[in-house]
Amino acid sequence: MNALLEVLQPGEPDWELARTIDPDRLPAHIAIIMDGNGRWAGRRRLPRVAGHQAGVGPVRNTVETCGRLGVKVLTLYAFSVENWKRPRAEVETLWRLLRYYLRQELPELQKNDVRLQAIGRLDALPAPVRKELEAAVEATSSNRGLLVNLAINYGGRAEIIDAVNAILEGARLDGSISSLKLDEELIASNLYTASCPDPDLLIRTSGEMRISNFLLWQIAYAELYVTGTLWPDFTRRDLLEAIVEYQKRDRRYGGLSAPPQRHESAELPPKRNEALIEALRLS
Ligand code: IPE
Ligand code: IPE
Ligand code: MG
Repeated sequence: MNALLEVLQPGEPDWELARTIDPDRLPAHIAIIMDGNGRWAGRRRLPRVAGHQAGVGPVRNTVETCGRLGVKVLTLYAFSVENWKRPRAEVETLWRLLRYYLRQELPELQKNDVRLQAIGRLDALPAPVRKELEAAVEATSSNRGLLVNLAINYGGRAEIIDAVNAILEGARLDGSISSLKLDEELIASNLYTASCPDPDLLIRTSGEMRISNFLLWQIAYAELYVTGTLWPDFTRRDLLEAIVEYQKRDRRYGGLSAPPQRHESAELPPKRNEALIEALRLS
């Protein structure tokens, strides 16, 4: 059963944690490098694909929790351009699981007003996978709640190259190429994530201290949070902990600290995030 069917009650660990989150300073965009499926399986002497299978539940829970919290965008790194180096059977299992996820979750995504978007070089996906992905994207296109970007056959460098090539092509077509000048706005508006704010919080599971070619342009000022938890073990609690840690950070963007907040205590007055706790509760 879905782990989110637990009810948040006063005194439960997640309830205490939720109390410390300031609903007015939630990260608008959370990006996650979902790593550690293979190690999760290895520790149980299971094949790697069992780890990928066990990684589906945390995707479902993370999407649901982000939606309930009021996060605007969640970008999930599901398959990198480098992941084709893996054995064919593993890659095929990943496609099967993606199709399973889409089929299984579509009604729930619709119910929760989630809009799906896929980012990456989708042309290279097996045709049936691509078709199913496009159908799910289309089916949820008028939803207005959480935007979930699934990064599939995604590479940060590939994305920047695709953006620059799209700009060059446009300029060739409209004859402006000789006076073309690149700037940050022009590049950002041609990235796969053009419609999204940059990630505020980048989470990586499994303890690896690297970016692995994820959202290279967009994470210029993201807050990084690495947890040793392996992706299949990632729970709502882990997500809330990451958000609590994010809210302790001083985001200076190269400038100076903002003036001190009025609430000095880590725990906010109960009234302030009643709505947030309520949002996490299932009726
Ligand atoms: C992340 O888990 C899933 C994908 C990259 C598709 P891994 O498969 O990378 O798991 P580890 O890092 O080998 O444990
Ligand atoms: C990053 O994980 C890609 C995804 C989570 C989809 P990897 O497991 O592929 O990254 P490396 O090889 O450890 O850098
Ligand atoms: Mg890995």
